[in-house]
Amino acid sequence: MNIPDAGSKAAVVEAMFDRIAPRYDLMNRLMTFGMDRFWRRQAVQALALPPGSRALDLACGTGDFCAELARIGVGVVGLDFSAAMLRVAGPRSTGATLVRADALRLPLHDQSFDAVVSGFALRNFANLEDPFRECFRVLKSGGKIALLEVDTPTSSLLRVGHRAYFHHLVPLIGRLIDHEAYSYLPASTEYLPDEARLLEMLARVGFRGLKKRRLLAGAVQLISASR
Ligand SMILES: C[S@@+](CC[C@H](N)C(=O)[O-])C[C@H]1O[C@@H](n2cnc3c(N)ncnc32)[C@H](O)[C@@H]1O
Repeated sequence: MNIPDAGSKAAVVEAMFDRIAPRYDLMNRLMTFGMDRFWRRQAVQALALPPGSRALDLACGTGDFCAELARIGVGVVGLDFSAAMLRVAGPRSTGATLVRADALRLPLHDQSFDAVVSGFALRNFANLEDPFRECFRVLKSGGKIALLEVDTPTSSLLRVGHRAYFHHLVPLIGRLIDHEAYSYLPASTEYLPDEARLLEMLARVGFRGLKKRRLLAGAVQLISASR
């Protein structure tokens, strides 16, 4: 599949998530055998936030991270540019404030959050420099970031199985929902910088204590850092 270039990407991605919003959660649970919830829980645990903290869920989609953070007593702002994803998030994100905005230009005050989380969104941004700079800006000094994203297993044997599943089976199952969207999903990994470059981009913005943790044999990555 041809993936959109930086100029058209935001419009294509927004329209795609608007289209798939009502079935996004179902497909997530099917594709990950329900493990996506566990990964988000791991990411939230890595932040070790005391109740009463304030967190931003960047590109919150249908609000899974918002719900997880609210469950442990954290005040959440969920931000996304897809109106349809936010509509699904509404009833599921009790207590969260939902904002429709672009992750590349956050309408949020400097140093107003203890943490920023983001799930499976990096591939979808038109660039990473702007959202990383914005995350740094809105975090308080000492604030933490936890980013979940797909990845490729390091073992060559697992890579073969992962490729068959993620690049062939997922688009096939996804045909039932939205052929274009679930072909875009594996294809969009092309946008992701490799580990060294991703960590370097975060470091250049000012983040420190950068760590990458591999989940599910490396099929998923959890990047954490602090300001
Ligand atoms: C794969 S979904 C992930 C949703 C959610 N974070 C999760 O873990 O399920 C990617 C989300 O990123 C949002 N998104 C992509 N680019 C964005 C941007 N520039 N600003 C705000 N939201 C964006 C999409 O609308 C979509 O809801």
